[in-house]
Amino acid sequence: MLAGKCIIIGITGGIAAYKTPDLVSKLVKVGADVHVVMTAAAAKFITPLTLQTISRNPVAVDMFEIPDKWEVKHISLADKADLLAVVPATANIIGKVSAGLADDLLSTVIMATKAPVFFVPAMNVHMYENPVFQSNVKKLVSYGYSFLEPDMGRLACGYEGKGRLPEADVIFDEIEALLKKTTDFAGTTFLITAGPTREYLDPVRFLTNGSTGKMGYAIAGAARGRGARVILVSGPVNIPVPQGVEHIPVLSARDMFDAVKEHYQEADIIVKTAAVADYSPKKRLISKMKKGPGDLELVFERTPDILRFLGENKDKQVLVGFAAETDNLVENAVKKIKTKNLDLIVANDISQPGAGFGTNTNIVKLIYRDGRIEQLDKMAKEEVAHRILDRLAACFKSAGAKPLA
Ligand code: CTP
Repeated sequence: MLAGKCIIIGITGGIAAYKTPDLVSKLVKVGADVHVVMTAAAAKFITPLTLQTISRNPVAVDMFEIPDKWEVKHISLADKADLLAVVPATANIIGKVSAGLADDLLSTVIMATKAPVFFVPAMNVHMYENPVFQSNVKKLVSYGYSFLEPDMGRLACGYEGKGRLPEADVIFDEIEALLKKTTDFAGTTFLITAGPTREYLDPVRFLTNGSTGKMGYAIAGAARGRGARVILVSGPVNIPVPQGVEHIPVLSARDMFDAVKEHYQEADIIVKTAAVADYSPKKRLISKMKKGPGDLELVFERTPDILRFLGENKDKQVLVGFAAETDNLVENAVKKIKTKNLDLIVANDISQPGAGFGTNTNIVKLIYRDGRIEQLDKMAKEEVAHRILDRLAACFKSAGAKPLA
């Protein structure tokens, strides 16, 4: 699996840097092509010569050193990589990347690469728990960067707590798993809908809901990271579009329906996380509505049920729906599988704390067509996204769609 893969190991300036040669040696032994990039601070803890000898490749530290042949080093390294792992990753490098800074070779390679980037933080427990650091991690996770949690134990600074670099074997296994994940949906096209819709009454007023798009965007980022082509049809949200995802912005349920109809035949897997309005004002005024003396009554008409249309018209596509419920979660979700001809429905009870709209976590049940129900623990939406993709990958090979279960 790792043989022939180009892996960049970034080393930053923490005491755990002395453990990195062990990881590099394990990777080289299985045939990976390992290139080490060190920060100047890392080179104070361990010498580039050690890493050069173990990796059998030149070690890069300085952005401005004159190369032997004509190439821009940070670009050529960034382009070549199948994966970039920063081991150990200090609070400083994570802060720099989350702020978009590129002021040395390693931070520049991280910014320039399209390969998955994996951070293995190791630091003092108080630094690790610092909310500024934690919010930087959260931000990077939302952009698709991966992290491995540090181990608990005695730290070099004398404290006991979370902050130790995990063993080389654990990091090695994680690198292997990440690389496997980067390709398991290669050749597959996803169509994902996300966010709320807006149903306008007049040019300034609309009916909407509290969907923030986080779940759908997490699935889009995860699918793209695992090699898929991703078309994301999204209502208005305030979060960034994951890198490499084709974004089609829409406003109303009708716009979303039109965009989905245009693209669903290109898709192998369709995931409908969008919170689509079921009703839209029957009349949309061209000019701003003026208030009158009494009450206001509005007439609403049904919007198209996009998922039902897909269920009726799909051929090869695997169809995944979402169900946000406050009552009778399983019963309602099972009904939706049948009426909308779905392969899988992801059901969340939005009345539970930590689930549903706007939260960073979700608590979902995966309900399959054959009646199987799988309860997932409360976890970050990015993690939920990967679990859903893991289940899809198990039933779906990139050669062509197969119905689930
Ligand atoms: N959905 C859709 N088009 C609609 C309404 C919903 O495609 N007009 C999709 C959603 O994207 C979601 C699934 O249907 O994947 C379930 O949405 P939900 O709002 O939970 O259910 P509804 O079908 O609207 O049923 P109800 O509101 O009665 O619960």
